[in-house]
Amino acid sequence: MTTLFINIKELLQIREISVLKVSGAEMAILPSLKNAYLVVENDIITGFGSMDNLPKIAADTIIDATGKMILPTWCDSHTHLVYAGNREQEFVDRINGMTYEEIANRGGGILNSAQKLNETSEAEIFNQSKVRLQEIMRLGTGAVEIKSGYGLTVDGELKMLRVIQQLAAQFPITIKATFLGAHAFPLEYKNNRKGYIDLIINEMLPRIAQDNLADFIDVFCEKGYFTVAETEEIMQAGIQFGLQPKIHVNQFHSIGGIQAGVKYNALSVDHLEILHPADIEVLKNTQTMPVALPSCSYFLSIPYTPAREMLAAGLPLALATDYNPGSTPSGNMNFVVATACIKMKMTPEEAINAATINGAYAMGLSETHGSITIGKKANFILTKPIASYYQLPYAFGSNLIDTVFIAGQRIK
Ligand code: NIG
Ligand code: FE
Repeated sequence: MTTLFINIKELLQIREISVLKVSGAEMAILPSLKNAYLVVENDIITGFGSMDNLPKIAADTIIDATGKMILPTWCDSHTHLVYAGNREQEFVDRINGMTYEEIANRGGGILNSAQKLNETSEAEIFNQSKVRLQEIMRLGTGAVEIKSGYGLTVDGELKMLRVIQQLAAQFPITIKATFLGAHAFPLEYKNNRKGYIDLIINEMLPRIAQDNLADFIDVFCEKGYFTVAETEEIMQAGIQFGLQPKIHVNQFHSIGGIQAGVKYNALSVDHLEILHPADIEVLKNTQTMPVALPSCSYFLSIPYTPAREMLAAGLPLALATDYNPGSTPSGNMNFVVATACIKMKMTPEEAINAATINGAYAMGLSETHGSITIGKKANFILTKPIASYYQLPYAFGSNLIDTVFIAGQRIK
């Protein structure tokens, strides 16, 4: 199956295969080609170039993209999109003045979602999550990381990870799975923290590893959740089972989570709303990708990750949704890119780099995803006719997507 796209107004994010992430000032550059063609064979990009040099190609399908642009699909490296039910009541409680912390302290928040998840069948969780996954595919996401963390029991965590595995088997989108048993302490372990950590390390991890249910390990390192010492212990155990860390840090407080992540070679450290100069310093010259989640800042009315300071320090930055029922009930990467521009003062080039190539890096996929590169997956967004790619973040409430292709397949 060969598909040829012709007359592409601009082909964005063209990269050599050797580029795995972009940092600091490099993020301001978005390599592109105007008046281009693109060739796809089955699920792989096999060629592109200027229409002036269009070779003779025997294509099964020719798609005329006059006036339209093509860019790689979004790489959403941080979601919790497998969950049961919703938390609209907490949303209204926050409107009426309660804080996220107060809601969690009364047994709501993550524990509320955990109760719902444990009361819901695996088939029903799959059905609810499938709808969310299909929605984000239509919104242009072609690779996504999904976490467990609403089970908080051996059965619940395994159930979530099996649902993620089933989603990966049934849909063309690339999925990476992260084990987040250390998302919160269940009520029955409130006064027995060691007991829950032992359950994670001695019961959950061995079974997850045995069934090959996760790629990464995550911990919510935060006041009221897991301390830095507990985070280190859990990361260490995860590493022993072959899971690289990708952790939640600095959402509400800077307590040393970034330093712990760097020490254990985390692939990414995510949230970073509260960042001190020492936190930025420790990320320099590491392989750890910082990840910002601006929809979470928007929804909870908390600070935005200080992107400008991070880029000025030469750091890379990725953008992801954090799609979850409590702090970010949205998986829309178009909104994330727009919000990063509007609220974090990232340029459109920086935001698109952060949401594609750097997002791919943050889930270990930058050799196959995140750019228009020969040999990479045929994952891309065909836009509606637009004057410039600035329109993507500028017209923040509009859907400017014409068609999404994932693994060469048109998404309906
Ligand atoms: O990334 N911060 C920890 N976990 C999620 C929110 C979880 C929830 O409220 O259900 C987050 O924001
Ligand atoms: Fe999260």
